[in-house]
Amino acid sequence: MILVTGAAGFIGSNFVLDWLAQSDEPVVNLDLLTYAGNLENLASLENDTRHHFVKGDIGDFELLSKLLADHKPRAVVNFAAESHVDRSIHGPEDFIQTNIVGTFHLLEAVRAYWNDLADEAKSNFRFLHVSTDEVYGSLGKDSPAFAETHRYEPNSPYSASKAASDHLVRAYHHTYSLPVLTTNCSNNYGPYHFPEKLIPLVIHNALAGKPLPIYGDGQQIRDWLYVKDHCSAIRRVLEAGRVGEVYNVGGWNEKPNLDVVHTLCAILDELSPRADGNAYKEQITYVKDRPGHDRRYAIDASKIERELGWKPAETFETGIRKTVQWYLDNQVWVSNVTSGAYKNWVGKQYGA
Ligand code: NAD
Ligand code: TYD
Repeated sequence: MILVTGAAGFIGSNFVLDWLAQSDEPVVNLDLLTYAGNLENLASLENDTRHHFVKGDIGDFELLSKLLADHKPRAVVNFAAESHVDRSIHGPEDFIQTNIVGTFHLLEAVRAYWNDLADEAKSNFRFLHVSTDEVYGSLGKDSPAFAETHRYEPNSPYSASKAASDHLVRAYHHTYSLPVLTTNCSNNYGPYHFPEKLIPLVIHNALAGKPLPIYGDGQQIRDWLYVKDHCSAIRRVLEAGRVGEVYNVGGWNEKPNLDVVHTLCAILDELSPRADGNAYKEQITYVKDRPGHDRRYAIDASKIERELGWKPAETFETGIRKTVQWYLDNQVWVSNVTSGAYKNWVGKQYGA
C-alpha cells in the first residue's frame, strides 16, 4: 500500500494510472479536489478496489494520522500542491498554505507514524517529495543545466513555496532521520494537463478559435518532460533512490516557448485543420510578459541516469504528437474540466 497525495491532479493521476497498470499494490489517494483536481482523470479506476480515494487536505494532521494508522503505507508520494505560477502571482496565499504549511503538517503526521513502525518497516519506509526545477531560479543562455548541487534561487511565489517545502523535507531527514527522497523535475506535458498551462491552453484555445497568448517575446526556454516519463522516474527513485538524496528529472528537451507553440499549430494543422483552411499560427497573439518571468530552465538529468539507470522514453517530437492526439480524442474531458472554477480564471491571465 502506498499513499499518494494530490493524485487527482495532472501528474498524480498519471502516476496512479501508471502504478496500477504495472502492479497490484493498492493506492490511497488523498486530494483536496481544488480547481486542479478532477476525479474524472481517474474515471477508469471507478470500480477498481486497488484505488481508495479520500477527499482531504495534506494540512489536516488528524486526518493524515488516521489514514496512516488505518492503511499502514510503506511509502508516501507527495504531489499535492498549488502548481501554477500565474496564480501564485495573483494570489500567493494558497501557495504558502498548501505548499509550505500543508507539507509541514504532512511531514509531522508521517514522522509520528514512521517513529512507531517496527524496525524493518521503519527502515523500508520512504517519503518521496515531488518538486520542481523552478526552485533553482533562471539560467543564462549559455549556463550549464541545473544539477542537484545548483543553489536555490526561487523567483516566483510558487517556486519560493516549493523551495521552502524542499527545505522542510531535507530538514526532516537531517534532524529526525526520516527516510526522504526528493525529485526536482522540469515542465511536464501530456494527458490530463489542466488547460491553464502553456501546452494544453494553446491546444484548447486553438481549437476554440481563440488567441494563443505568447508572454513577452516568446523566447523563454523550458525543458519539456513527457508526464509518463516523469512517472517512471518517480517509480525508479522510490524503488532504488538513496535515502536523503535529490534527483533531477528532465527530458533533455529545451525549447523556446514560441517554437513549442509553432509545433502545436503545425500538428493541429495536420490532424484537425481549421474549417477556413487557414493556419492555426495565425491565432498567435503577443501579450504582456509575466512579472519576474524566468528566462530559461534546463535540467541535467545525468545523476538519475548514472545511479538509477533511468532515461526518458519519449522525445519531444513523439510526446507532443501523442499529447495533441490525446486532447483531440478527449474533448469531453476538456469541456468538463474547463467549466466551473476555470471560467473565473480565464481573463485574469497576462494580456488577456
Ligand atoms: P496540479 O495542480 O495539476 O495538481 C495538484 C493536485 O493537488 C490537485 O489534484 C489538487 O486538488 C491537489 N491539492 C492542492 N492542494 C491540496 C491540499 N492542500 N491537500 C490535498 N490535495 C491538494 O499539479 P501537477 O502539475 O500535477 O503537479 C504535481 C506536483 O508536481 C506539484 O507538487 C508540482 O509542484 C510538481 N511539479 C509539477 C510540474 C509540472 O510541469 N506540472 C513540474 C515540476 C514539478
Ligand atoms: P507554464 O505552462 O505556466 O509553466 P511554468 O511557468 O511553470 O514554466 O508556462 C510555460 C511557459 O510558457 C512560461 O515561460 C510562460 C509561458 N506562457 C505563455 O507564453 N503563454 C501562456 O498563456 C502561458 C500559460 C504560459
